Amino acid sequence: MKYILIINGPNLNLLGRRQPEIYGSRTLDDINRDLAAMLADGLCLETAQYNSEGEIIDALHHAGFDPDCIGIALNAGAYTHYSYAIADAIAAISVPVVEVHMSNVHSREEFRHRSVIAPVCAGTISGFGEKSYRLALEAIMQTDDKT
Ligand code: DQA
Repeated sequence: MKYILIINGPNLNLLGRRQPEIYGSRTLDDINRDLAAMLADGLCLETAQYNSEGEIIDALHHAGFDPDCIGIALNAGAYTHYSYAIADAIAAISVPVVEVHMSNVHSREEFRHRSVIAPVCAGTISGFGEKSYRLALEAIMQTDDKT
């Protein structure tokens, strides 16, 4: 079955408890459950969360050459701002990756203004809270020619 993969990076396992004034009060499980319900017929959602860079890269390699995967929504957390290894992994794979941020990274500290993964992603969604994930899934479904 065709699927979309959402990968959440470091510290996003703490959603619901981590700085709720920025990231809201819902847990990652709550968010993922709602997202699974919005997919088009014939598509399913796979979700993963890793705190370490290497595991994120392994997940990108795995899904990134899988013909059943139509897109990846990636919230790489702080790795966004400095991980050339994740950027290289995204550039290496053939499945499109949408960069996701819950907060508006451009309205926050200066170090968050730079994304080293943005140039190799299909696009970026930032600033809409948990709806950022929803918008990323919409973007993947609407740009996939087989959905
Ligand atoms: C984040 C923004 C990053 O700067 C931060 O390090 C995160 C979460 C977001 O979803 O807004 O961990 O990616």
